Order: sequence, then C-alpha cells, then structure tokens
Amino acid sequence: MSRWPKPAEGSWTEHYPELGTAPVSYEDSISPEFYELEREAIFKRAWLNVGRVEQLPKVGSYFTKELDVARTSIVVVRDAGGDVRAFHNICRHRGNKLVWNDFPREETSGTCRQFTCKYHGWRYNLGGALTFVQQEGEFFDLDKSDYGLVPLHCDVWAGFIFVNLATTPEQSLPDFLGPMITDLDGYPFDKMTERFYYRAEVGANWKLYMDAFQEFYHAPVLHARQTPAKFSTAAQQAGFEAPHYRIDGPHRLVSTSGIAAWELDPDMRKPMEDITRSGLFGPWDAPDLGVGAMPVGLNPAGCDPWGLDSFQVWPNFVILIWAQGWYLTYHYWPIAPNRHLFEGTAYFVPARNARERVAHEMAAVTFKEYGLQDSNTLEATQTMLESRVVTAFPLNDQEILCRHLHKVAADWVDDYKRQGAGV
Ligand code: FES
Ligand SMILES: [Fe+2]
Repeated sequence: MSRWPKPAEGSWTEHYPELGTAPVSYEDSISPEFYELEREAIFKRAWLNVGRVEQLPKVGSYFTKELDVARTSIVVVRDAGGDVRAFHNICRHRGNKLVWNDFPREETSGTCRQFTCKYHGWRYNLGGALTFVQQEGEFFDLDKSDYGLVPLHCDVWAGFIFVNLATTPEQSLPDFLGPMITDLDGYPFDKMTERFYYRAEVGANWKLYMDAFQEFYHAPVLHARQTPAKFSTAAQQAGFEAPHYRIDGPHRLVSTSGIAAWELDPDMRKPMEDITRSGLFGPWDAPDLGVGAMPVGLNPAGCDPWGLDSFQVWPNFVILIWAQGWYLTYHYWPIAPNRHLFEGTAYFVPARNARERVAHEMAAVTFKEYGLQDSNTLEATQTMLESRVVTAFPLNDQEILCRHLHKVAADWVDDYKRQGAGV
C-alpha cells in the first residue's frame, strides 16, 4: 500500500488505518495529569529544536533557552573548536542559574569568553569545564574536573540546533527526523538570515495551536476576509483545501498548491499588497537562491503551481517553506496544561535595498495578523473543552494531521508508561 496516497485514491485518513476515523477526545489538552506525563514521555525523550546556527555566529556566541516543560534552562554555545554545545544552565557550586541578565526567568544571548556565576564567581569555559573557584583552598578536596557544567545531547541538522534531555537518546537526530524531514537537505536555509521574531503566551494547550496550523478547513471561515477564493487551484480540483498530506513516523506534512498573489483578482488584494509587492504568501519578487533543483523533500506532490509545505516536526516544531523563497518556523513551548509560549520566526534572504526590506516586513506583519486570528479562538476552545460537557469530537478528512498529533502524543505517553512498568 502506498504510504503517500494521491487524492484520487480517496480518503487520506483511511490510508492510515492506525489513525481510525472515530471521534477524538481532547482530554489530552485539558488534563493536568496528562500534561505531567507529557513532560517526561515527550519533552524529555524527543529531540527539540532550540534555534539555528546563525544565532551562534562565532566562538563564544551563546543563547539561553527556558524549557519550563522539562523544568530546566539550558545554555547553547559555540565552543572554542567551533562546535555547538548545550549545557544545563546551573552552576555546580550552589545551584544558581549561571547565565541570565536582568531577569532570571528571561532568555538572553550574547558573546563571551567564559561563563562567570553571579553568586560567588565560579567560572566555566566554553566547553563547560570549571576553570576557576574563588578561594579554592577553602574547599575540601575539591577537584575542579568533577564540577563541569552538566551537558545535554546536542546535534545540528541543516543549521537547526536540536537538544535531547534523555540520558541516552533512543535515536540519533537523523534517525529521529526520518526521511520526510531530512529530504529537505540542501534547501538554502543558511542563506535566509534576515529574521523577524514574534513570541506570545497563549491561553491554550500547546497541541491546540498546532492543530490550528495543520488544517485549512478553518481558513475560509476564520480568515474569511483574507482568504482568496482562488487560494488553491489544484486543491479545488482535488476536492481538498490542501492537495497533499503525509505522515512519516511522529512527523507530519501538509503541502498546498498556490496561486501567485499578483494573479489574483485585484479585489482580493489590499492596496498595501500592491504598493509593497508582498503579502501573506511572501514577497512577490522571489530572491535568486543561487541553487539548482530544490531538495526532493520539497513539494512532494509536484503541485504546479506550488504554494507551501508545512513540516510538522514532532513534538513542537514547524518548518513552513513558501514557494516565494522564504520560510517560517513555529515553536510551541508548553508552560502549563492550558498555556504555552508560541514563537513565530520569519526568515528571508537579506534585503539588498529598501524595497526588498519593506516587502519582507509586509510579509512578516501579514503573518502576524493571521497568527493572531488563529490564536484568538484558542482560549475560547480551551475553556469550553475544560467544561467536559462534550468529550468526543468528530474530525474530518482534512483534519487528519490533528488526529495524528493527538495519537502520537498518546502513543508516546503509553510507551513511556509501559517502559516505567517494565513491560
Ligand atoms: S552558586 Fe555559582 S558560584 Fe556559588
Ligand atoms: Fe489559520
């Protein structure tokens, strides 16, 4: 059986019998007990993307990342040899958070030659070794080599930095990502270094916002004033809002066809889009990426015209690549059963002039507008799910990726419980 069915073959969901077609419970998005299990079963076992190598441009560059869901903070640094390393952000003397600025709970970044604790001045080099202890002679048989920073597993794929909090990860990063994601190798992520970053605390479970960005069933309704009727020509032909869905292990993909924004009926566009030559789909004038064929993993259904691919990397990371030569990443960091921190980042080939810069800013703010519309319903959904008045919800064929996300979360939690029970 083909794992990558074409629309002509019928239902997407029924091509993945393990997903079933029954109504789905959202107990996993409201239960404090399930959230506690997710910390261990998911966020301390999966590879987590924490940033890009461009955030560490030189030796000594570092950034911190607050991983509330795993109850830790980490510091990611480019060491003296140029490698990217990650450590738990805790001083080995008396447990102070090692790297922070004005506010201990806020993330920070910068460049340094060593890390110095703000409490008693212990120092660590970029490789995590303890190099200096204030009044070392007053300690008792202290061997500095026993007190380096606590490392965590760290690896880089295509410039994306991943960490893993497990003592021994169950899979290497490439094995974890699998072919659907690693087939993006060769995409010029490294050329798209102009970054626009948004973050917002959202009053909903992390999976609910992921759901909002992995189906287009809502688009004609929630984005009614923005959705062009001809948003997706091939999708209309196929009878789907998006013509291609794919599942590979715990990861998901939705690929859409697209129509060039400038070919839309002018009534469908805002005047600002014509003035800036940009909008939701990105700048109308795509950059010259200076590469030949795109990687095989892109536009897997061969949509023509192609619109975008949204790769949902388990558990909480999305790479969304637009046909117009730019990309977005989303991160959904849980902070409570009913809250998470959403990060949206847009990446462009650096503007060469003011017109290009304005086009990038237009795309970035248009994305933010859509993101606000999407997140606006989530708190309303969360509060009513918590009422438990209704406990099973029917998902349609276009919502296959939502069905898959909740199934994978349940599977990982079940697997963790089985391991704990020694089964
Ligand atoms: S806690 Fe860091 S030097 Fe004392
Ligand atoms: Fe949306």
